[in-house]
Amino acid sequence: MPELRAPIGTRDVVAPESARWARLVARFAVTAEAAGYGLVLTPLFEDLAVFQRVGEATDIVRKEMYDFEDKGGRHLALRPEVTASVVRSYIQLRPTLPWKSWYVGPNFRYESPQAGRYRQFYQLGLEAIGSADADLDVEVIGLAWSLYDAMGLRQVGLSINSLGDDVCRPGYRELLLRFLEARRAELCDEHRIRLEDNPLRALDCKKPECMAATVDAPRQLDHLCEPCGAHFARVREGLMALGVPHTVDTRLVRGLDYYTRTTFEFPSGALDSAQNALGGGGRYDGLVEAMGGPPTPGIGFALGIERILLACDAEGVAEAGGGGVDVFVVDLTGGGAARDVTFELRAAGWRADRAFDARSAKAQFKAADRSGARLAVVIGPDEAAAGTVSVKDLRGGAPGGQVTVARAHLGDEVRRRLG
Ligand code: HAM
Repeated sequence: MPELRAPIGTRDVVAPESARWARLVARFAVTAEAAGYGLVLTPLFEDLAVFQRVGEATDIVRKEMYDFEDKGGRHLALRPEVTASVVRSYIQLRPTLPWKSWYVGPNFRYESPQAGRYRQFYQLGLEAIGSADADLDVEVIGLAWSLYDAMGLRQVGLSINSLGDDVCRPGYRELLLRFLEARRAELCDEHRIRLEDNPLRALDCKKPECMAATVDAPRQLDHLCEPCGAHFARVREGLMALGVPHTVDTRLVRGLDYYTRTTFEFPSGALDSAQNALGGGGRYDGLVEAMGGPPTPGIGFALGIERILLACDAEGVAEAGGGGVDVFVVDLTGGGAARDVTFELRAAGWRADRAFDARSAKAQFKAADRSGARLAVVIGPDEAAAGTVSVKDLRGGAPGGQVTVARAHLGDEVRRRLG
């Protein structure tokens, strides 16, 4: 039988790497909950129509969707992102506004895999539905910023832009289209052919021909209506008040079509420029209505877990190493003592592990070393007969050398050594 392997573009995350994930998720949960966001869990698959609303002209919908027909003939898709699902959920459940929720989980996009780009990847994100207040934009952006900051990431930037709204965007779109039509021959193949679908996308294209052709293109920021201009100014003022440094990037369009007004991205200077976005988001004031709900504004972001951890590696900060247990129980009497002692230690709140299958003393000490434990609790025939256990320092960090204590005092001895 050929060797079975994980599909291209997917990976297994195992310990100790998975411990870094768990810590990052826990940190994000605390950050989001502390600001009034509650966990939302939506299905990993939805009716295809849910995701089609994020933009028929986007790569995500046109080329990258994992869609399929189920046994009941329904056309479904694995989620390529979470915002559309959260909005669908809002329309279905109608929670009280503002509805502030956070999430973590996998997304699926049929992209060409490379470092930092996978077909199944994990996002941390949050969505705030029900307010158009610019201060909410500042809150949302500030939460992502404070997460990176608390992790010690110093090479993360913040780019922001405004894409206007239903009032000012159509006029700008026409202006840009006319500008680009006159230069159609200079654009890359894709944008030459698909120019009319969404001319703004050419501004975001990283191909040199598109970049050259759009150098002098009109900028949405110069064509905002008065309310959109005031909104953007208020967002910038708020970011400055919170001390969040940012750069205005008039080319920042983003890869989803639902955005209005504020859009933002967090590029990392520590990663290769092709996949350097550690996260991104923006306002989507028209999306709830476009998906069949009442007109309701919203804003949110999603951060890529794999990319954040790649950036941590590149910057040599936080969320590395760790994991493992506190105490490893070595039982030279057949395993029954280890069964009972690990159970007692865990009940007292310690992380404890042991070896199985009555392995040799050498094999058990090797396993103890690999486990990351600082202490070994050793039970040999003498200890078993005397009702004692020996406690041994494995890392040289815990004071006290090796001592033998009554089994009933093991908890006190572990606490004395590990604090
Ligand atoms: P997005 O920019 O498509 O936005 O994805 C957000 C983040 O997910 C990216 O910045 C990146 O870190 C990570 N990411 C995206 N694709 C991949 C991939 N193939 N492999 C690894 N990481 C990836 C959204 O998904 C929007 N839903 C964000 C949002 C929330 N907007 C409003 N609310």
